Amino acid sequence: MLGRLNHVALAVPDLAAAVASYSQTLGARVSAPQALPEHGVTVVFVDVGNTKIELLEPLGANSPIAAFMDKNPSGGMHHLCYEVDDILAARDQLKAAGARVLGDGNPRTGAHGKPVLFLHPKDFFGTLIELEQS
Ligand code: CO
Repeated sequence: MLGRLNHVALAVPDLAAAVASYSQTLGARVSAPQALPEHGVTVVFVDVGNTKIELLEPLGANSPIAAFMDKNPSGGMHHLCYEVDDILAARDQLKAAGARVLGDGNPRTGAHGKPVLFLHPKDFFGTLIELEQS
């Protein structure tokens, strides 16, 4: 089921500062910021060749990463995103195995315009997992 690592996501308190750090200090290529109101975040992607780093900043009053930022005020690793060939088949297989799918269980459109789902971190060793249709 599990395919390539699409990205590692880091939640940051100040996206502009994180973009400056990655582009200027680390010399990486960083995409333009993209607001995702449905997900309550603003994101950029850093292309590191073999995968991407997603930098995300809370957007709006009810951002789902607000609690994470309270616990990690200087930022931290937020989730891993793996590609799957068939997101609905993957969801059904995972649910049958007892894994919890966050939200209403239906894929939403992610930052790459493809369907995504999130899996409960307590079911995967403390790491939030995003699945993206490849
Ligand atoms: Co992501």
